Amino acid sequence: MSAGHASTAPYESSGTRDLVGIGFGPANLALAIAMDEHNGRCAPDDRLSSAFVERQADFGWHRGMLLEGATMQVSFLKDLATMRDPGSRFTFLRYLHDRGRLADFINQKSFFPTRLEFHDYLGWCAEEFRDRVSYGREAVAVRPVRGTGDGTVDGFEVVTRPAGGPGAEEVVRARNIVLGTGLTPQLPPGVSAGEHVWHNRDLLFRAPALTHRPHRRFAVVGAGQSAAETAEYLYRTFPDAEVCAVFTRYGYSPADDSPFANRIFDPSAVDDFYDAPEDIKRAMLDYHGNTNYSVVDGELIEQLYRTVYQEKVAGTERLRILRMSSLTGIEELPGGARAVVRPLTGGELFTLDCDAVVLATGYRPQDPRELLGPLADECLTDHQGRLRVDRDHRLRMTGRVRGGVYLQGAGTEHTHGITSSLLSTLAVRSGEIRDSLLLGRAGNGVLGAPAPVPAGAAAHGG
Ligand code: FDA
Repeated sequence: MSAGHASTAPYESSGTRDLVGIGFGPANLALAIAMDEHNGRCAPDDRLSSAFVERQADFGWHRGMLLEGATMQVSFLKDLATMRDPGSRFTFLRYLHDRGRLADFINQKSFFPTRLEFHDYLGWCAEEFRDRVSYGREAVAVRPVRGTGDGTVDGFEVVTRPAGGPGAEEVVRARNIVLGTGLTPQLPPGVSAGEHVWHNRDLLFRAPALTHRPHRRFAVVGAGQSAAETAEYLYRTFPDAEVCAVFTRYGYSPADDSPFANRIFDPSAVDDFYDAPEDIKRAMLDYHGNTNYSVVDGELIEQLYRTVYQEKVAGTERLRILRMSSLTGIEELPGGARAVVRPLTGGELFTLDCDAVVLATGYRPQDPRELLGPLADECLTDHQGRLRVDRDHRLRMTGRVRGGVYLQGAGTEHTHGITSSLLSTLAVRSGEIRDSLLLGRAGNGVLGAPAPVPAGAAAHGG
């Protein structure tokens, strides 16, 4: 791709960016694109300056699950730009054209690229912002920067360290920050990961090391998309091993990707959700949870069922579906791990000695207040103690905080609905956050001045 637009903005010379983004996954990458779009068409003085901190050594989107053949569960038209600006230079079509594959892609007659290809697209976009991203550094704290006089918080210091190791702290200053740190792997209660017990996010980092030895068995815990993909991958990759799929449901259930239900992922559904009363929000999540949670792509279910049936015909049973079964414990063994399983329909506990147990047990949002330190006390919360998030994705804070703290993605499902942690609305959402930053600058002369909340308002004001 050609070189990006200049990113220099007035505040950069003072060392304070308009924006620091924590995390550089698809969400903050989409925001970088939306800001680039603005910078490319405005006067130099109006440009937004930014910097991003990313813990991974380089750009990566769920690298541990980039399984060969796995396809996207979202149309390529829901890339990082098209739904906001189909003419953007960051669309998936533009990427295909740049890679010389546009005609070949069209001939596939599919809206759903492989995850490997979409990862390549995301990396192609990310490359344009390399000069603004500190890879291999983790944000460990956010400190308030107080203005002179009334002591209001005018900006922030984001403290970073080398990810996963010792090294010097660095500080980057901003008038606004955006938390786009994604979801955190979730393990069953009382279970920790180990040498032979992995969360599926590490599948491709761990499994290939086991290919050069004889195998007995793998167990995969969970019944969602990642669990089904993991079972299929292990079955295919270790032809001498038994693969046990352990889950509490009766069977894998298909994801509802039918067109009317799919509207729950439209940008307008975010407005509907945001404005709805609490009980209707709950109902929307309950009715349409099966578009995303604990469900599996229909074709993959068919494929796994065919395998099980064909093995039954052949009198072998290498792929075993242990339905209505609950994992009650795991013990590391020399060279493997033992899973303890309880049949929910009755019967004795039994054990599965495995080369590895893979926990495809989902993800959870991290509470952003952990990173916000003393600023957490300035966050307004609802009656359930959840963060209040404005429609423009900005955390609602007391009047003592003038700089903007935005939260995008994980952690906003209770306010912005089911698309929050997904890709579907990234193009539109990033435009909303960018416009909010610009509005703050235009309206107040200070980027990110907050909507008026009286100074001293209760931090848990509901
Ligand atoms: P994401 O988790 O991708 O990025 C957050 C980034 O922040 C990470 O790179 C992380 O390293 C970094 N980070 C975290 N804390 C940090 C800190 N303190 N300091 C510095 N960096 C930090 N959705 C969809 O709509 N369609 C799909 O097809 C799929 N497919 C899919 C497959 C698989 C295997 C998974 C696990 C998930 C999906 N998803 C999905 C959902 C997925 O959450 C979504 O695609 C995006 O990853 C969300 O992007 P984010 O940027 O919000 O989070």
